[in-house]
Amino acid sequence: MNQSITQLQNGTAVITGAANGIGLELAKQAHQLNMNLVLADINFDQLLRVKEELHLTEAKTLLLKIDVSEETEIAHLCIKAYEKFGSVELLCNNAGVSLNRLSWKHSHQDWEWLMNVNLFSVAHAIRYFVPRMLEQGTPAHIVNTASAAGLLSTSGMAAYNASKHAVVTLSETLYQELQSIQSKIDVSVLCPAWVPTQIHLAQRNRPDRFGTHQDPSDSMSLKFEDRMSHAVQAGKMTATEIATEVFKAVEKQQFYIIPHRKINSLIEQRLQDIVLLRNPKVSES
Ligand SMILES: NC(=O)c1ccc[n+]([C@@H]2O[C@H](COP(=O)([O-])OP(=O)(O)OC[C@H]3O[C@@H](n4cnc5c(N)ncnc54)[C@H](O)[C@@H]3O)[C@@H](O)[C@H]2O)c1
Repeated sequence: MNQSITQLQNGTAVITGAANGIGLELAKQAHQLNMNLVLADINFDQLLRVKEELHLTEAKTLLLKIDVSEETEIAHLCIKAYEKFGSVELLCNNAGVSLNRLSWKHSHQDWEWLMNVNLFSVAHAIRYFVPRMLEQGTPAHIVNTASAAGLLSTSGMAAYNASKHAVVTLSETLYQELQSIQSKIDVSVLCPAWVPTQIHLAQRNRPDRFGTHQDPSDSMSLKFEDRMSHAVQAGKMTATEIATEVFKAVEKQQFYIIPHRKINSLIEQRLQDIVLLRNPKVSES
């Protein structure tokens, strides 16, 4: 077993969006490594069910009701994690939400919700956790969950795409900075395509301050919603397999985690379009 996984064993994992989907599977695999778990989610009841289901002990577990879109709650998450366990060896900035509609049908509050949950949460976590991880001086790994949407530009998901592209470049920047100071903190960015979780039902987690969810009223936006719901449920890789890919990447100290290799041709096409100054290929909607 590679050194980096050995270093995770018995260490502490902080995982946001840990009550369901990919975050839950990351938590299960961290648990298998005998890590202490700091599980954060906006849905606390679901976290309690996870604790029961996995037989997690008080001594090795901290459950926190955290809305990652609030900077103060990320600060609280960091304080509580260090208070209980003293160090963090794995930080998974994973919580995320999605929205499907035409670009000009996103409201200001739609943009604020998506950007705060998907992007600013990661920026805040970096601001609070990285100085402490540097201070602890032991090897650690940060995994930011972006998406294939952070490498492509599929129609009907403007705010989601923008937030995930930003997470990719934020992660690349962080990686370079941490490498250039020879720190012991590694970084990876996770970019899956469709995975059967509840991401297509993300409006269930929309905090009141971002306004109530409005169903789209135009046929194109409804079609985008429908497409996402079907694509997510038909996703060929399970959340368990995605989590396995994450731990393999941590072991190999691999930055880009792109579990669905079939999207490579689309990524290549986009990069070629940019380099050759070709107009973007119009995707089927
Ligand atoms: N499922 C996919 O097809 C897919 C593909 C690419 C990327 N992703 C990304 O994977 C990550 C995990 O999503 P998932 O697919 O497991 O979805 P999911 O909806 O099943 O799980 C997301 C979890 O995040 C929590 N959450 C939502 N808003 C929150 C908030 N404000 N504060 C704290 N927790 C919050 C939810 O309660 C839920 O437990 C997201 O960042 C998503 O964008 C998912």
